[in-house]
Amino acid sequence: MHGYTHLFIPGPTNVPEPVRRAMNLPQEDMRAPDFADFVTPLLADLKKVFRTESGRVFVFPSSGTGMWEAAMTNTLSPGDRVLMARFGQFSHLWMDMAERLGLEVDLVEVEWGKGTPVDVFAERLAADGEHRIRAVCVTHNETATGVTSDVAAVRAALDAAGHPAMLFVDGVSSIASIEFEMDEWGVDCAVAGSQKGFMMPAGLGLLGVSRKALEASASATSRRCFFSFDDMIKLNDTGYFPYTPATQLLRGLRVAVDMLLEETMEGVWARHRRLAEGVRTAVAAWEGCELVSAGEEWRSDTVSAIYVPEGVDAVRVINTAYEKYHTSLGSGLARLAGRVFRIGHLGSLNPVMLCGAISAAEMALLDCGAQIVPGSGVAAAIGHFRATTPDNRIQLRKSA
Ligand SMILES: Cc1ncc(COP(=O)(O)O)c(C=O)c1O
Repeated sequence: MHGYTHLFIPGPTNVPEPVRRAMNLPQEDMRAPDFADFVTPLLADLKKVFRTESGRVFVFPSSGTGMWEAAMTNTLSPGDRVLMARFGQFSHLWMDMAERLGLEVDLVEVEWGKGTPVDVFAERLAADGEHRIRAVCVTHNETATGVTSDVAAVRAALDAAGHPAMLFVDGVSSIASIEFEMDEWGVDCAVAGSQKGFMMPAGLGLLGVSRKALEASASATSRRCFFSFDDMIKLNDTGYFPYTPATQLLRGLRVAVDMLLEETMEGVWARHRRLAEGVRTAVAAWEGCELVSAGEEWRSDTVSAIYVPEGVDAVRVINTAYEKYHTSLGSGLARLAGRVFRIGHLGSLNPVMLCGAISAAEMALLDCGAQIVPGSGVAAAIGHFRATTPDNRIQLRKSA
């Protein structure tokens, strides 16, 4: 086989060459006198990606799941009540973790395809006069269904109710890809991992923590050790880590953060919007295919989960794309298995790469019996991308 196997799963995402090269270096001394000169600015610049000035960002050798745990065990005590909604595999797993950590979960079940029910959350908060709810948890981008929730609206609901609960956000497939504003939205714990918008291999958990969450950790009694904020702060403040850090990954992260900040976060968000709209245009052109997200307000700019037409097996579509066309598409998770495939459109991507994913999906759909018009999705996508190239926008502005 020549060329690459193309990766269009919603994480891990493609690692840009400069990031990959930055990780290819000899092992270094993580206690060297000048290592702090590398760590301190990196931690400061991560705050710009999370959009926090008042909080801080921790980097653990871990993944997103570990950061769910770090957030909860550092700031909550067993028996504390948390308000959560379940509308996909990842919001389910976070809820399951909360229960296993001994928290009392006030769970709102939501149809898969929709996201955080702000109105129901507002009612529960208003009804909680004793302020028993200690944290409200929002899965910002449910990767299983391609649904984005409105975190700012949850913050507004907390404020309207005058409720002091902390706001935790799972931003694993949103932070560093789509708009995320830690300070502006009053987020207390913001969970991320290295392998999605950060364009890195898996292996680092990133956690944005507000001052309020740090204060809560002083009295929270859940057991924590490896993920202790206190241990991390003590060493991070000197530019080091409380245990052996993944130095190669940190070197890659440095370059990835530089790339994000150079593009600007607004630029990163706009690129993801444009790429996502290209995919959505293609899906709309495929007869019988439909997004899982139930309405425009829920559509994710990082991942599209797509129902295959009646009578088509989504597992076969995914396997065909992989085996015949060397393209990895995301699978349908849990109850969506066999009915859904996903296209990840986040990280280091451009329109032509995405046209490759759309054409592989289209070929596999046709091979598996979908009655779609060959080329219809690709034609729709290239129409969108041609109409939205920066050059076109410049020309349109000039002629206006
Ligand atoms: C929204 C969301 N939350 C949490 C996780 C778990 O993260 P990790 O696999 O890095 O532990 C994922 C993984 O895909 C995710 O998409």
